[in-house]
Amino acid sequence: MDNYIAVPVAPPAKDARRTESIKLYGPDAFEGMRRAGRLTATCLDGVAELIRADMPLSEINAHVLDFAAAHDAKPATLGYKGYSYACCTSVNHVVCHGFPNEKKLREGDILNVDVTLIVDGWYGDSSRMYTVGKPKRAAERLVQVAHEAMMRGIRAVRPGARLGDIGHAIQSYAQSHRCSVVRDFCGHGIGQVFHDSPNILNFGRNGTGPELREGMIFTVEPMINLGRADVKMLADGWTAVTRDRSLSAQFEHSIGVTGDGFEIFTLSPGGLHSPGIELAA
Ligand code: MF3
Ligand code: CO
Ligand code: CO
Repeated sequence: MDNYIAVPVAPPAKDARRTESIKLYGPDAFEGMRRAGRLTATCLDGVAELIRADMPLSEINAHVLDFAAAHDAKPATLGYKGYSYACCTSVNHVVCHGFPNEKKLREGDILNVDVTLIVDGWYGDSSRMYTVGKPKRAAERLVQVAHEAMMRGIRAVRPGARLGDIGHAIQSYAQSHRCSVVRDFCGHGIGQVFHDSPNILNFGRNGTGPELREGMIFTVEPMINLGRADVKMLADGWTAVTRDRSLSAQFEHSIGVTGDGFEIFTLSPGGLHSPGIELAA
């Protein structure tokens, strides 16, 4: 997968200095991330109102473009490594990086919309699942498993925890619900660049990897499949799909490590985390 982030083939050796290459940010950065994250989340809230059967995905692209322009923000994906859209829209068996083109949504589809807005130099990166009408029960279950997998990964975050704790929390939850975890993509450090170190793998072992420290900022964004984990890239060079064409779902938040846990920068102001999912505040 020659995409934006290559998952390391071999896990990095236990090297304390790796931790030092992960940036630590202060209060001003957290404030910048709050603003960028809130705007991205508000943009995703707006997407919920658009979704309907027979709607071309390009309408979502247009919404993100208009929303960004109206709020002095820039969609980070536009022109990123040759990608030419303002967001990614990944429908059904598309795992990630689907194009918001003229293709139309259909009743029962599930889709991920992934938006990254740059506000005053800070990157707010988040994605959510949406449903078109009433999807099949298995599809709804997958969406809920993907959301809970992300939340369990996030809840593993606190100073002193290890990076592997996040991956373990995601993987063990998803697999206990007979879903699989995509290995070819991962979360990433974020801040004033789109994709920074460290890689946040969606699988792993407790107590392994660099130690988390207050001031780290990164995304948690597991991709969970109903079938097998294997993905393949379409000829367009971007669209990743499940090899067995089973459904795939993903959620993403940008978060910061605080003194006693984590802060989610991309929580939905409208409480629209996902269809059928209510979060305690
Ligand atoms: N927003 C994606 C992420 O979560 C990256 C998309 S890169 C693109 O990291 F070029 F495909 F848009
Ligand atoms: Co991301
Ligand atoms: Co994203």
